[in-house]
Amino acid sequence: MPDINFIVGFIFLLGFLAFFLAFLGFIVFTFFRWRGREKDSVDSVLLRVLVPRTNEVKIDAMEQVFASLFSIKKGGWKQKFSFQPSIGFEIVAREGYINFYVFCPSRLKDLVEKQINGAYPDAEVVEVPEYNIFTDTGKVAYKAFQLRAENYKPIKTFKDLPVDPLSSITSVLAKMGEKEAAVIQILISPADSKWQKDGSHFISETKKRESDPEKAKFSVSGKTLEAVENKIGKPGFEVSIRAIVVSESSELAKMHLGNISGAFEQFSSEFNGFKSRKIYHKASFMEDFLYRYMPMFNILGNRPSILNSEELATIFHFPNRSITTPNIQWLNAKRAPAPSIVPEEGLFLGMSVFRGIKRRVCVSDDDRRRHIYIIGATGTGKSELLKQMMLQDMKEGKGICFIDPHDTVRQLLPLIPPERAEDVIYFNPADTERPMGLNLLEAKTEDEKHFVATSVINLMYKLFDPYKTGIVGPRFEHGVRNAMLTAMAEEGNTFIEVVRIMTDSRFTQELLPKVTDPMVRRYWTDQIAQTADFHKSEVLDYTVSKFGRFVTNRMMRNIIGQSKSSFSFRKVMDEGKILLIDLAKGELGEENSSFLGLILVPRILMAAMSRQDTPEEKRRDFYLYVDEFQNFATPDFAVILSEARKYRLNLCVANQFIGQMEEEVKNAVFGNVGTKIAFRVGVSDASYLAREFAPVFSEEDLLNIERFNAFVKTIVRNEPVPPFSIDTTKDMSEIKKQENPKVAQIIKEMSRLKYGRDVREVEAEIARRAKL
Ligand SMILES: Nc1ncnc2c1ncn2[C@@H]1O[C@H](COP(=O)(O)OP(=O)(O)O)[C@@H](O)[C@H]1O
Ligand SMILES: [Mg+2]
Repeated sequence: MPDINFIVGFIFLLGFLAFFLAFLGFIVFTFFRWRGREKDSVDSVLLRVLVPRTNEVKIDAMEQVFASLFSIKKGGWKQKFSFQPSIGFEIVAREGYINFYVFCPSRLKDLVEKQINGAYPDAEVVEVPEYNIFTDTGKVAYKAFQLRAENYKPIKTFKDLPVDPLSSITSVLAKMGEKEAAVIQILISPADSKWQKDGSHFISETKKRESDPEKAKFSVSGKTLEAVENKIGKPGFEVSIRAIVVSESSELAKMHLGNISGAFEQFSSEFNGFKSRKIYHKASFMEDFLYRYMPMFNILGNRPSILNSEELATIFHFPNRSITTPNIQWLNAKRAPAPSIVPEEGLFLGMSVFRGIKRRVCVSDDDRRRHIYIIGATGTGKSELLKQMMLQDMKEGKGICFIDPHDTVRQLLPLIPPERAEDVIYFNPADTERPMGLNLLEAKTEDEKHFVATSVINLMYKLFDPYKTGIVGPRFEHGVRNAMLTAMAEEGNTFIEVVRIMTDSRFTQELLPKVTDPMVRRYWTDQIAQTADFHKSEVLDYTVSKFGRFVTNRMMRNIIGQSKSSFSFRKVMDEGKILLIDLAKGELGEENSSFLGLILVPRILMAAMSRQDTPEEKRRDFYLYVDEFQNFATPDFAVILSEARKYRLNLCVANQFIGQMEEEVKNAVFGNVGTKIAFRVGVSDASYLAREFAPVFSEEDLLNIERFNAFVKTIVRNEPVPPFSIDTTKDMSEIKKQENPKVAQIIKEMSRLKYGRDVREVEAEIARRAKL
């Protein structure tokens, strides 16, 4: 009789063998079923889909796209023995931009393109080379998602979500730096109907159970049944969702990945949601990601997830105008070629690029006398363009002045041609050890004196009452004007004396004999007669409190309190010097920066006007560059814009919004400027600018200009030419290489020794005068 143990052992062995064979069979079959997937992946195309910023197509259009893509399903017996084709939908953040891609087998390209364009008629679908997110040093974090409950239970869809779910995903991606990258990859492949049958079964079983009073538990709500019914009513796809992040450190990569998972939380409904899939082998996960393979095995806690067309559209669709994330790459604006009459020599602005034809776009010296105006949202390349223009002028030995409230001057210093180093006056108010003097009361003629007084009044409005609400009124204007003119009666007086005049009646009395202007004298005698104590009036209190801060601030006092300016603007202009005015707001404070800019600009304009004493053809061209022009634009500017041409003061100004300028200045700019360069702008400015650039470019085009590209409306030999586009893109690393920090150092040192004064000396002088 055989040993019972032997029999048990034998049966056990047989069982094991059967199991092993079945397992082997499963593996072999799986590999057999997935044969050819590499060929499919290699023979695929990557399509980039760009939509215009003004895209209004709603999410349900994408649902239609997915529903019709279900037609790629292989039917019949084939589906059992081969894999279903898959299509990848990807949201990719890299190099500071967010893009939307579709990856599909080449044979499906036409279909995919047609479906996308059917739903998004304005979309541009272009085949592009494969992108790469990996770098040598970058750290990678990755994750895959699957449904947490049965496939027939729905996640939350766009129909239940109050806002476009794409916006939380894109805003997470927008937080990635230029050196970081992320991909959200959604692979779909038509599912067979088993999941729908399961769903129907679930519904019928539940209904049957609930109708049986003995078994009813009422654990499943009617709402659930309805949700399941809805989900299974639409075509389903097996999906594989992966997220990969590359960043400088593992912590950062994990953080971004966590944020992406966080954004996926919004899809959680009471029925279903996403959880992580287990990743057992990193290398094969990466291979699946790169080849866009659906996972071959769904074992050990992993299982296929099925989403219907509505759910897929919720997770992936192309952005529409409700998505305000700044980094999304929208469809480029229109381009137009530069007319052949536009010169290729002169001040170089950028390249005209149109249908493969490239040519230089320049402005001649003569046409520059009608000024250049640059507008564009922040980060579009305005300051960089100013910088490039200034460098050209410097190389050509021209005289320039640059007023900069940011850090462009500092970027410019190391690039200055060494042969011009001696011409540079680097005015840096933050250098408190050797302050340069700037006496804003220096005026020779009566006209100049009035001009100075007016410019200070304009400054007051700009700084303290920009909307003209009446804070600064006529009484106030009158007071300031007379105080200014009184102070100017004696040479060497400064802004400090202006404030003293307003606070100290004895001082005013002392000065009065020197005042020759009868109107000014009358003012004081009247004031003193009328208000017994004029110097205690409210108007003056207010004025002094406003002006006072510029005089009490040590840095400012040591500049505007010096009797003699460190340099003459007229000489700077006539001798073609390079005056760089560094008003970095960060160091000076916003108000001081604006104050200095606001007194400097009119001084330069005044110096230009003083060229009246020289015949027009002998006036040397001088170029005034102002960045963030709106900070310094007062009505003086409006007046001068029309006249500057004859004084050979050629302006080149940049600012962010037209809305930042007063009506008067705005009209002067658009009425007088010969060359307007528009980078991408916002909605309100686009509508204003559209008429300048019509009929070639539309409002929409202005909203969509690619960064570092611009539209130009210029004149050639004083005649307007049709608008065209330019590309100013440069290799910034090349420019970085040209920087010479030593030159910057030498220029700073030379300039502060030559034009600055020792702070002790300055303070002693001011103290002496204050005791007068
Ligand atoms: N023409 C260009 N080519 C390449 N990069 C540029 C170009 N212009 C600007 N950049 C880069 O873009 C960023 C923003 O440019 P910037 O000129 O400061 O913009 P804006 O003054 O309009 O705010 C800078 O970091 C600069 O290096
Ligand atoms: Mg700028």
